Amino acid sequence: LREDVLAAIDVAAGLDALEAVRVHALGKQGSVTAQLKSLGKMTPEQRQDLGPRIHGLREAVTSAIATRKAALEQALLDAQLASETLDMTLPAPAPMAGTVHPVSQVMDELAEIFADLGFAVATGPEIEDDWHNFTALNIPETHPARAMHDTFYFPEGEDGAQKMLLRTHTSPVQIRTMVNGKPPIRIIAPGRTYRSDSDATHTPMFHQVEGLVIDKGITLGHLKWTLETFLKAFFERDDIVLRLRPSYFPFTEPSAEVDVGYSIEKGKRVIGGSEGWMEVLGSGMVHPKVIAACGLDPEEWQGFAFGCGIDRLAMLKYGMDDLRAFFDGDLRWLKHYGFSS
Ligand code: PHE
Repeated sequence: LREDVLAAIDVAAGLDALEAVRVHALGKQGSVTAQLKSLGKMTPEQRQDLGPRIHGLREAVTSAIATRKAALEQALLDAQLASETLDMTLPAPAPMAGTVHPVSQVMDELAEIFADLGFAVATGPEIEDDWHNFTALNIPETHPARAMHDTFYFPEGEDGAQKMLLRTHTSPVQIRTMVNGKPPIRIIAPGRTYRSDSDATHTPMFHQVEGLVIDKGITLGHLKWTLETFLKAFFERDDIVLRLRPSYFPFTEPSAEVDVGYSIEKGKRVIGGSEGWMEVLGSGMVHPKVIAACGLDPEEWQGFAFGCGIDRLAMLKYGMDDLRAFFDGDLRWLKHYGFSS
C-alpha cells in the first residue's frame, strides 16, 4: 500500500489530481484511513506490532502530499511569472491628453489677430445688472429690444436693488470699458452670453466677441477695414468679400449687419468668394447717447462697435454643423474637433 500511495503522489500532475489521491488515501473511506480504523479491532499484541507501522504510513503519506503540493504550487508560480514578464524596455503607454475646445481655440485666434491690430482683451461679468446690459446701451425699460433678447433674469432682490440678469450679449463690456477707462480705446471682449433659446443653431449659453474702438475722427471706413482685415486673417483667405446691410441696434447709429461671401466647393459652403451671403455679425457707429451715458463727450469722441458669435465662427471655419454638440462634452467629438495645446 505504501508504495502504491507514494507512487500515486509522485505522478499526480496537478493540484486537483493530488487532492484526489489524498482523499483516496486519507479521506473517510480512504485506504490509509481503513488501516488506522483496523487498529481498533486488534489484540494489544497485534496493535503493538502493527501500530507504529500504520501510523508511520500515515505520516509518510501526509508529508509526501505536503512536499508534492509545495512543488506543484511552485511550478505554477514559476509558469505564471514566466508568462507575465514585464519588458521594462518597452515605451510607456501615452497618457490620455485632453484637447483645446474649438471655442477656446477660436478665442485664442481672435486675441492674436486683434492684438496685431492694437486691440487689448477686456472682460466683464456674466451676471450683469440691468443698467450695463440694457439701459446704458440705449435700451430703456420699455424698449421692445428687451423682449427680443429672451433674457434670463434673477429673482427680484431687496427693494430698490437693480434687476440682475445673465448678460444677453457682450455689449455691456463696451459700457464697463468706457466707464472705467479713458479713450482712445481699442478692445475686444470675448465671453459667454445667455438667452433662453435652444435649437440646432441656438443654445441657452453661447459665445460672442465684442469689438470697440473709441477715438477721434473714427468713421464707418475704419469699421469696414477692421472687419475685413480680421475676417481675412481668421479664415486665412484673401478673397473675403463683405457686404454691409443697413440695420438697427439701439446702441449704434448707423447700424449695419455684416454678411460675408461664400462659395460652394465640393458641395460644401466655404467662406470666400461671393456666390452667396452669410450673416456673421452686427456692427455700427457707437450711438452718441451711449458715449454720453459712460460720461464721455460725444462731440469729442466717436467710435465703432461690433458683436459676433464665436461658436458660429468656429462652425464656419472648422466645419461642424450642430451647435449643441459644442457643449455636450462627448469625448469623441472633443477628440475629433479639439486642438492639441
Ligand atoms: N450686441 C449685438 C447682438 O448681440 C451685436 C452688436 C454689437 C451690434 C455691437 C452692434 C454693435 O446682437
